[in-house]
Amino acid sequence: MERTFLAIKPDGVQRGLVGEIIRRFETKGFTLVGLKLLNVSRELAEQHYGVHRERPFFGGLVEFITSSPVVAMVWEGDGVIASARKIIGATNPLTAEPGTIRGDFGLNIGRNLIHGSDAPETAQQEVALWFKDEELVSWQPHLTPWLHE
Ligand code: GTP
Ligand code: MG
Repeated sequence: MERTFLAIKPDGVQRGLVGEIIRRFETKGFTLVGLKLLNVSRELAEQHYGVHRERPFFGGLVEFITSSPVVAMVWEGDGVIASARKIIGATNPLTAEPGTIRGDFGLNIGRNLIHGSDAPETAQQEVALWFKDEELVSWQPHLTPWLHE
Protein backbone atom coordinates (compact mmCIF):
# COMPACT_ATOMS: atom_id res chain seq x y z
CA MET A 1 0.00 0.00 0.00
CA GLU A 2 1.25 3.50 -0.86
CA ARG A 3 2.68 5.57 2.01
CA THR A 4 3.77 9.19 2.35
CA PHE A 5 5.72 11.19 4.90
CA LEU A 6 4.09 14.33 6.29
CA ALA A 7 5.51 16.68 8.93
CA ILE A 8 3.68 19.49 10.71
CA LYS A 9 6.37 22.16 10.90
CA PRO A 10 7.15 24.26 14.00
CA ASP A 11 4.68 26.99 12.98
CA GLY A 12 1.82 24.47 12.71
CA VAL A 13 2.61 23.04 16.15
CA GLN A 14 3.11 26.46 17.82
CA ARG A 15 -0.13 27.78 16.31
CA GLY A 16 -2.17 24.89 17.69
CA LEU A 17 -3.05 23.48 14.27
CA VAL A 18 -1.97 19.88 14.88
CA GLY A 19 -5.51 18.57 15.39
CA GLU A 20 -6.94 20.58 12.48
CA ILE A 21 -4.22 19.36 10.11
CA ILE A 22 -4.47 15.70 11.15
CA ARG A 23 -8.26 15.91 10.86
CA ARG A 24 -8.03 16.74 7.16
CA PHE A 25 -6.16 13.53 6.31
CA GLU A 26 -8.22 11.45 8.72
CA THR A 27 -11.60 12.60 7.38
CA LYS A 28 -10.40 12.19 3.79
CA GLY A 29 -10.08 8.47 4.64
CA PHE A 30 -6.32 7.95 4.72
CA THR A 31 -4.81 5.72 7.40
CA LEU A 32 -2.32 6.97 9.98
CA VAL A 33 0.48 4.40 10.42
CA GLY A 34 3.17 6.47 12.18
CA LEU A 35 3.09 9.51 14.49
CA LYS A 36 5.58 11.27 16.78
CA LEU A 37 6.44 14.68 18.19
CA LEU A 38 10.16 15.45 18.11
CA ASN A 39 12.82 18.12 18.21
CA VAL A 40 14.58 17.81 14.86
CA SER A 41 18.39 17.62 14.95
CA ARG A 42 20.44 19.75 12.57
CA GLU A 43 21.72 16.52 10.96
CA LEU A 44 18.19 15.25 10.27
CA ALA A 45 17.06 18.66 8.95
CA GLU A 46 20.04 18.92 6.60
CA GLN A 47 19.46 15.38 5.32
CA HIS A 48 15.73 15.92 4.87
CA TYR A 49 16.19 19.18 2.94
CA GLY A 50 19.49 18.08 1.30
CA VAL A 51 18.07 18.68 -2.19
CA HIS A 52 17.86 22.41 -1.33
CA ARG A 53 21.43 22.63 0.07
CA GLU A 54 22.58 25.17 -2.54
CA ARG A 55 19.47 27.38 -2.34
CA PRO A 56 19.72 30.78 -0.59
CA PHE A 57 16.93 29.88 1.85
CA PHE A 58 18.57 26.60 2.99
CA GLY A 59 20.19 28.00 6.16
CA GLY A 60 16.97 29.68 7.28
CA LEU A 61 14.95 26.57 6.51
CA VAL A 62 17.22 24.37 8.66
CA GLU A 63 17.20 26.97 11.47
CA PHE A 64 13.41 27.09 11.36
CA ILE A 65 12.74 23.36 11.24
CA THR A 66 15.09 22.78 14.21
CA SER A 67 13.72 25.73 16.26
CA SER A 68 10.72 24.07 17.90
CA PRO A 69 8.98 20.64 17.85
CA VAL A 70 7.64 19.02 14.70
CA VAL A 71 4.93 16.35 14.33
CA ALA A 72 6.19 13.62 11.99
CA MET A 73 3.66 11.27 10.41
CA VAL A 74 3.30 8.46 7.91
CA TRP A 75 -0.05 8.12 6.14
CA GLU A 76 -1.19 5.23 3.99
CA GLY A 77 -3.71 4.83 1.16
CA ASP A 78 -4.09 4.49 -2.60
CA GLY A 79 -2.81 7.68 -4.21
CA VAL A 80 -1.91 9.23 -0.84
CA ILE A 81 1.31 10.92 -2.03
CA ALA A 82 -0.28 13.10 -4.72
CA SER A 83 -3.54 13.56 -2.82
CA ALA A 84 -1.75 14.79 0.32
CA ARG A 85 0.15 17.34 -1.78
CA LYS A 86 -3.22 18.63 -3.05
CA ILE A 87 -4.64 18.78 0.47
CA ILE A 88 -1.51 20.71 1.57
CA GLY A 89 -1.60 23.18 -1.35
CA ALA A 90 1.03 25.20 -3.21
CA THR A 91 4.41 25.94 -1.59
CA ASN A 92 3.61 29.66 -1.21
CA PRO A 93 0.56 30.00 1.08
CA LEU A 94 -0.31 33.36 -0.46
CA THR A 95 -1.07 31.68 -3.79
CA ALA A 96 -2.26 28.33 -2.39
CA GLU A 97 -5.95 27.69 -3.08
CA PRO A 98 -8.45 28.30 -0.29
CA GLY A 99 -9.52 24.92 1.03
CA THR A 100 -5.94 23.70 1.18
CA ILE A 101 -4.02 23.71 4.48
CA ARG A 102 -1.54 26.35 3.33
CA GLY A 103 -4.27 28.34 1.56
CA ASP A 104 -6.46 28.40 4.67
CA PHE A 105 -3.86 29.01 7.38
CA GLY A 106 -0.65 30.45 5.87
CA LEU A 107 0.75 33.77 4.67
CA ASN A 108 4.44 33.23 4.05
CA ILE A 109 6.56 30.74 2.07
CA GLY A 110 8.96 30.30 5.00
CA ARG A 111 6.04 29.51 7.34
CA ASN A 112 3.98 27.08 5.28
CA LEU A 113 2.94 24.77 8.11
CA ILE A 114 3.44 21.30 6.70
CA HIS A 115 5.75 19.20 4.57
CA GLY A 116 4.60 16.42 2.27
CA SER A 117 6.70 14.01 0.17
CA ASP A 118 6.55 14.95 -3.50
CA ALA A 119 6.97 11.55 -5.27
CA PRO A 120 7.14 7.79 -4.56
CA GLU A 121 10.96 7.75 -4.35
CA THR A 122 11.16 10.69 -1.93
CA ALA A 123 8.27 9.28 0.13
CA GLN A 124 10.17 6.02 0.59
CA GLN A 125 13.41 7.84 1.48
CA GLU A 126 11.71 10.22 3.91
CA VAL A 127 9.71 7.51 5.70
CA ALA A 128 12.98 5.59 6.21
CA LEU A 129 14.86 8.74 7.30
CA TRP A 130 12.31 9.77 9.95
CA PHE A 131 10.92 6.42 11.21
CA LYS A 132 12.30 3.06 12.28
CA ASP A 133 10.38 0.05 10.94
CA GLU A 134 9.10 -0.79 14.44
CA GLU A 135 7.60 2.71 14.80
CA LEU A 136 5.21 2.04 11.91
CA VAL A 137 1.97 0.20 12.61
CA SER A 138 0.18 -1.75 9.88
CA TRP A 139 -3.50 -2.03 10.71
CA GLN A 140 -6.81 -2.54 8.95
CA PRO A 141 -9.33 0.24 9.63
CA HIS A 142 -12.88 -1.11 9.98
CA LEU A 143 -14.00 1.79 7.82
CA THR A 144 -12.39 0.34 4.67
CA PRO A 145 -15.57 -1.17 3.11
CA TRP A 146 -17.30 2.20 3.58
CA LEU A 147 -14.53 4.03 1.75
CA HIS A 148 -13.80 1.63 -1.14
CA GLU A 149 -16.19 -0.33 -3.36
P1 GTP B 1 7.96 20.91 1.47
O1 GTP B 1 6.76 20.03 1.56
O2 GTP B 1 8.30 21.60 2.75
O3 GTP B 1 9.15 20.19 0.85
O4 GTP B 1 7.51 22.11 0.52
P2 GTP B 1 7.33 22.06 -1.06
O5 GTP B 1 7.64 20.70 -1.59
O6 GTP B 1 6.01 22.65 -1.37
O7 GTP B 1 8.46 23.08 -1.52
P3 GTP B 1 10.02 22.81 -1.82
O8 GTP B 1 10.38 21.39 -1.57
O9 GTP B 1 10.32 23.40 -3.13
O10 GTP B 1 10.70 23.72 -0.71
C1 GTP B 1 10.93 23.22 0.60
C2 GTP B 1 10.64 24.32 1.59
O11 GTP B 1 11.59 25.35 1.45
C3 GTP B 1 9.29 25.00 1.39
O12 GTP B 1 8.25 24.36 2.06
C4 GTP B 1 9.54 26.39 1.95
O13 GTP B 1 9.32 26.41 3.36
C5 GTP B 1 11.00 26.63 1.67
N1 GTP B 1 11.15 27.41 0.46
C6 GTP B 1 10.99 27.02 -0.82
N2 GTP B 1 11.21 28.04 -1.67
C7 GTP B 1 11.49 29.11 -0.89
C8 GTP B 1 11.82 30.46 -1.15
O14 GTP B 1 11.88 30.91 -2.28
N3 GTP B 1 12.05 31.29 -0.06
C9 GTP B 1 12.00 30.79 1.22
N4 GTP B 1 12.23 31.64 2.23
N5 GTP B 1 11.69 29.54 1.50
C10 GTP B 1 11.45 28.71 0.47
MG1 MG C 1 9.38 19.64 -1.12
